[in-house]
Amino acid sequence: MTHRAVIRGTGHYLPERVIENAWFEDKIDTSDEWIRARTGIERRHFAAEGETTSQMAIKAAERALQNAGIPAEQIDAIIVATSTPDLTFPSVATMVQAGLGMKHGFAFDVQAVCAGFVFALANADGLIRSGQAERVLVIGAETFSKLMDWEDRGTCVLFGDGAGAIVLEAVQAGERGILAHDLNSDGSYRDILYVDGGVATTGTSGKLRMQGNVLFRHAVEKLAETAHRAIEKAGLSAGDVDWLVPHQANARIIAATAQRMHLPMEKVVLTVADHGNTSAASIPLALSVAADAGTFAEGDVIVTEAIGGGLSWGAVVLRW
Ligand code: ACO
Repeated sequence: MTHRAVIRGTGHYLPERVIENAWFEDKIDTSDEWIRARTGIERRHFAAEGETTSQMAIKAAERALQNAGIPAEQIDAIIVATSTPDLTFPSVATMVQAGLGMKHGFAFDVQAVCAGFVFALANADGLIRSGQAERVLVIGAETFSKLMDWEDRGTCVLFGDGAGAIVLEAVQAGERGILAHDLNSDGSYRDILYVDGGVATTGTSGKLRMQGNVLFRHAVEKLAETAHRAIEKAGLSAGDVDWLVPHQANARIIAATAQRMHLPMEKVVLTVADHGNTSAASIPLALSVAADAGTFAEGDVIVTEAIGGGLSWGAVVLRW
């Protein structure tokens, strides 16, 4: 029997502390006007002192489970996409498992930076299709504020913290569910976006370094390509797409990608203004916010896409 992975519930959590663009103006040489015009970002949330990625992930997971009407006892696997774990190990996913009071199933993290949720979703789909799991909790959770160099105006204004979660359930193959994915990496681009520390090098967690304008060009080209390939693998065409739920890094990248995909902006879910770039959390956050607003109708075709450090990039096509 072939199975397909259907989204049963969504949930998200954003830290209480909201940072408006103006907050940066007396700290670095920047302005609200520059940040809005170049990125579309107006504000972002920062985790409180001591608030961790796993704590945010647990809150998002609890909300997704409640939304799905599925208790934690029925979850077989947890995948957390994150590059900002509480500790080097154990995984955030096992911390979520413990936080949900689960002693069964299995849990692991996926690290593909901003593309992490797309990679996690594709892996969860594989687990469900192969019959290894019936219900999978897929979470994106990040505290990128902890990776910022607060003197680097080219990066510190861009990122925010948060978590989003979805519950996937196996159904007998029908119309709905994850239809196709397309995953890509090219490690030769490592210097475009990286963190300058780690366990085996500096022994510190390091700070984020990015060649923003170089990455911008790769993003627009590669995101449209991967989305196109995933749509093709699903046996669909651009005209069949009802919603694009992109990684929320920069409103200009999103608009340029939508244009290459021949999609009007009315079909694009945009949360970057309020969340900033929350890396692997951005797609599940956007999905959850849009689902809460009643944006999606049953049967809608949704395309998600993301690019991040590595470089790693990919897209998932699903029918809501
Ligand atoms: N305020 C004011 N000026 C700034 C700021 C700022 N916060 N940041 C940079 N500038 C300046 C630069 O110093 C530069 O000045 P100069 O011309 O005097 O040298 C000028 O603005 C233009 O800089 P660019 O980097 O060319 O600006 P650009 O239009 O490319 O915007 C940005 C920069 C927003 C970073 C953009 O390149 C971008 O969004 N890149 C992609 C980021 C991305 O997609 N990340 C996704 C993956 S993230 C992940 O995986 C963790």
